[in-house]
Amino acid sequence: MSTPSKIILITGANSGVGFAATGVIAKASEGYHVIMASRNPQNGEKALKEVKAMEGIKGTLSTVQLDQDDPESVKRAAKEVESQFGRLDVLVNNAAIFFRNDTRETFEATWRTNLTGPFLVTEAFRPLLFKSKNPYSVFISSGMGSLVQAQDPSVFYYSIYSPSYRMSKAALNMYAIQEDMKYRKEGLKTFAMCPGFVVSNLRGKDEMSRTGGGYATSPLVSGETMLGIIEGKRDAEVGKFVWEKGVYPW
Ligand SMILES: NC(=O)c1ccc[n+]([C@@H]2O[C@H](COP(=O)([O-])OP(=O)(O)OC[C@H]3O[C@@H](n4cnc5c(N)ncnc54)[C@H](OP(=O)(O)O)[C@@H]3O)[C@@H](O)[C@H]2O)c1
Repeated sequence: MSTPSKIILITGANSGVGFAATGVIAKASEGYHVIMASRNPQNGEKALKEVKAMEGIKGTLSTVQLDQDDPESVKRAAKEVESQFGRLDVLVNNAAIFFRNDTRETFEATWRTNLTGPFLVTEAFRPLLFKSKNPYSVFISSGMGSLVQAQDPSVFYYSIYSPSYRMSKAALNMYAIQEDMKYRKEGLKTFAMCPGFVVSNLRGKDEMSRTGGGYATSPLVSGETMLGIIEGKRDAEVGKFVWEKGVYPW
């Protein structure tokens, strides 16, 4: 394998947005290497095989076990990437969970996975990002985390009552702002990104939930948005909360 021009790690890459984005990115250039991080190694291997079998894959791929609820797993994954590649060009904090109904347990689980998780992952991989000449850090958020949109009755998800998930994404946005404030001057380009309302396992594994009652679009759209960011096409919007067609208010 020749040295890749960009090494991209996506958390939760075995499913939904992360899986689709892996395919989009690996089809874009033979210089791209996507590390598909997955909490379950068997699911990671299965997803890796599926992407490799897609038509038009030019880049290279690998997997790493990473459960962001487990600090040791996160540290191990960072060590593995360091020993294999010595650097990381793009970190995509994509993995997250969603519960329809909140209890104390689901609230705490959501907070742990959707916030403490990206914090641990970012802390572990940031030193590797600083070994890249042009590093990107992308936080996969949601329009549902926008405080402005949550107060606008014309927005289609305005009336969705989901405090823990929406709060976790609003807080993740603040984390992206903090990262940008501290590290932009050192060359790190940080984005919060909404992937759109897309087909995935986030809402549940039955067809109705996966497709959002038939309204969800393809996660390939999310992959294209991610690709635009990592190829520098969205550099004018660094530090912002971007989506396919522009910038969302925080
Ligand atoms: N789908 C949408 O319409 C939509 C809209 C807005 C934002 N988003 C955001 O998009 C991102 C991707 O979600 P998705 O829609 O693609 O859902 P998904 O299909 O459920 O994928 C989520 C991924 O996160 C992984 N994950 C969950 N907990 C983890 C943990 N503790 N450690 C490591 N990985 C973990 C899952 O692993 P397993 O397969 O093992 O469960 C899966 O690979 C999330 O941040 C979500 O909030 C999605």
